[in-house]
Amino acid sequence: MKILVLNGPNLNMLGIREPGIYGNSTYDDLVKKITDHCNAKGIDVECKQSNHEGTLVDYIQQAYFDKVDGIVINPGAYTHTSVALLDAFKSVSIPMVEVHISDVSTREAFRQVSYVSYAASRTIMGKGFDGYIEAIEYLASM
Ligand code: DQA
Repeated sequence: MKILVLNGPNLNMLGIREPGIYGNSTYDDLVKKITDHCNAKGIDVECKQSNHEGTLVDYIQQAYFDKVDGIVINPGAYTHTSVALLDAFKSVSIPMVEVHISDVSTREAFRQVSYVSYAASRTIMGKGFDGYIEAIEYLASM
């Protein structure tokens, strides 16, 4: 089982950005939590982060050629704007779970739209870093 975990813009700033919303733990803490979990479960995982929409599209396309079984993505703000990410997921048809650390459903109106969700098998929000683990477990059970 091969899983790719993608994080979009500003998620490299975890621990610094808006700790009241996203917490005090860093991106490296997140990667360690995911890696430890996957090592214990025998899941092959790779974590990537980019602030650039096109780079995220490249990573999604590459996952097709690398025969990745499932993708977990927190697209950050691109969630609410990016048809390109949606089209990339539709191009590769790899099962995908969308994760948000915060509960976007209770935040600003502009966060209520998610283009990526049109291709998501599931959306998990408001569960902090645990949401990523839940997403991985969901993909592993598919
Ligand atoms: C986020 C929510 C988005 O609205 C925001 O732009 C982010 C992070 C989350 O994890 O809660 O960058 O995806």
